[in-house]
Amino acid sequence: MKKVFVKSYGCQMNVYDAERMADMLATEGYSETKAMEEADLVILNTCHIREKAAEKVYSELGRVRELKQEREAAGQETRIVVAGCVAQAEGKEILRRQPAVDVVVGPQNYHRLPDLLKKSRSERLVDTEFPIEDKFDHLPAPSKAKTISRGVSAFLTIQEGCDKFCTFCVVPYTRGAEVSRPVARILDEAHRLADAGVRELTLIGQNVNAYHGEGPDGAVWSLGRLLRRLAEVPGIARLRYTTSHPRDMDEELIAAHGDLPALMPYLHLPVQSGSDRILDAMNRKHTGDEYRRLIERIRKVQPDLALSSDFIVGFPGETDQDFEDTMRLVADIGFASSFSFKYSPRPGTPAAEMGEQVAEAVKAERLSRLQNLLETQRQAFNHGTVGQTLDVLLEKPGRHPGQIAGKSPYLQAVQFESDVHRIGEIVTVRIVRAGSNSLFGEWVKPGDRAAA
Ligand code: SAH
Ligand code: SF4
Ligand code: F3S
Repeated sequence: MKKVFVKSYGCQMNVYDAERMADMLATEGYSETKAMEEADLVILNTCHIREKAAEKVYSELGRVRELKQEREAAGQETRIVVAGCVAQAEGKEILRRQPAVDVVVGPQNYHRLPDLLKKSRSERLVDTEFPIEDKFDHLPAPSKAKTISRGVSAFLTIQEGCDKFCTFCVVPYTRGAEVSRPVARILDEAHRLADAGVRELTLIGQNVNAYHGEGPDGAVWSLGRLLRRLAEVPGIARLRYTTSHPRDMDEELIAAHGDLPALMPYLHLPVQSGSDRILDAMNRKHTGDEYRRLIERIRKVQPDLALSSDFIVGFPGETDQDFEDTMRLVADIGFASSFSFKYSPRPGTPAAEMGEQVAEAVKAERLSRLQNLLETQRQAFNHGTVGQTLDVLLEKPGRHPGQIAGKSPYLQAVQFESDVHRIGEIVTVRIVRAGSNSLFGEWVKPGDRAAA
């Protein structure tokens, strides 16, 4: 049997796509391997979001090329595919920069991989046209055993692409226009996952709360409505969605946070900056105060809500005052977790052409101040859960024998001693200690709950 090795960079969309590529290649006789050295086919599923991410691909390709040569000397063939967002953005350039690459395929075209692999025997190929057909209609489902091996928490792509055109971002160019999958397809996939023991679904998309898919009734369904329907799928106990744009949090979605117990009280809602001037230049189409008011509205229906966000420092024209506005917004809201980045100019995006690019040293200083504040908030949030009882979805054996590990509603890793529980169960755990990256707790037996 031939072996395929897939390495993914970037966001959850790529993680999901990597699984679907592996599923498709399984029907072509490839089994998945975690060791690149033994792979007959190596796929790098790439990310173009920041310069560093894109450059990483070329250094990795250099290593894969050496491997290809070593295997060739031993009489074994290795084929190399570059997929994902760098493939989409750079296309032919990749073939030019790395002669060992056989196929370059964009994120909307990977359903054609088997065909491309065959055709590339006679010439090296690039496929980055946005196709008319929907790739999801051409992707086979994995075997039940495969789904089980991937665990009790699964990603499900419901929407792809983005029409927002934030001035710093490559996604609308690499992933194309916003498209929602029909409700019926999503439900089929959810049922298939639940049948294989999946308890938690994370609905993913570049701009997932802009979801507007065709419902079984012919009407257009919003994300709020879709979540309500998914909560009825037997076996599914937890729902999450990511990533969202503040502009697309509609009433139906906010209401779902109040009255859908399966919808976890944890929301990734990137704000990027706290300065109105910079938000405007980023084309985010909302102000810092509008974000604050939005959070208040969601917290009104779901007081337990914990938040996470993305931030960019050093966007062109960002002054000290703009940066202080970001620090103030962070202090006002309080985030349980966050990602923050130095602005990285991306070819073809409007912000890359703007004057007043911020000096690297200033970006570094701002990033370090922001990250200190965010880390303090993260630790405070984690320590705040000590003494509380939290529902934990059990995902895998813990670090030490006799331990079991799972996730809290707030996506925190939780470990506790137990030899009676099974993966996939949701149990009540009293948190006794917060480490730097996980919480430690004790199982609260159902009868003990009143005493807890
Ligand atoms: N769709 C998501 C973002 C996807 S990209 C959203 O709208 O929130 C993930 C994060 O990368 C962004 O939220 C942003 O913080 C960061 N990012 C995107 N482009 C960037 C750039 N050019 N430089 C630095 N960070 C960037
Ligand atoms: Fe990029 Fe903005 Fe779209 Fe997010 S909403 S993917 S940051 S353009
Ligand atoms: Fe990167 Fe593409 Fe995701 S650029 S963040 S892999 S959508």
